[in-house]
Amino acid sequence: MTNHLVLVGLMGSGKTSVGERVAAALGRPFVDSDDFVEQRTGRTVREIWLEDGEPAFRALEREALTEALVAADPAVIAAAGGVVLAEQNRKTLRAADATVVWLHADPSILAARATRGDHRPLLDDDPHATLHQMAADRDALYREVADEVIDVARPLDDIVADVISLARRDG
Ligand code: S3P
Repeated sequence: MTNHLVLVGLMGSGKTSVGERVAAALGRPFVDSDDFVEQRTGRTVREIWLEDGEPAFRALEREALTEALVAADPAVIAAAGGVVLAEQNRKTLRAADATVVWLHADPSILAARATRGDHRPLLDDDPHATLHQMAADRDALYREVADEVIDVARPLDDIVADVISLARRDG
């Protein structure tokens, strides 16, 4: 039976680095929703964001999430930080055959870790202030979809081991 593992959380929470390692350890495919959008469109998140606007990006993100979740083989899915903003995505996550894990830490810690990049136009100006505001706006939404909450203010190896245990328990 399919049981995906979906990682949610703010930028800098380690969805990609944790997800890649967990997927490798479990022998599952790893899907990153931002990569999925970029591969589908042949454009970077930044290009879509700046040329077409955030709503256009959010629509592509919604498609990426839905498609990733319908795959028959259990995957590890890193869902981009903003997926929880749309109620439709939250419903999709709650209804999915998936264990949803919120990678959580204080936004100051995330701001120190989060790298700027072509898929993160929102961090161009003031990552610290942005991530604090995002935590205030979104923490309740992550909590709403999460089956489990993992504290990521810890060494990567410990986080990966905990997430692998969850996946094995539910897989
Ligand atoms: C965003 C998070 C980014 C990317 C975009 C918007 C957000 O993904 O989708 O820059 O709104 O939190 P990651 O969380 O994978 O960095």
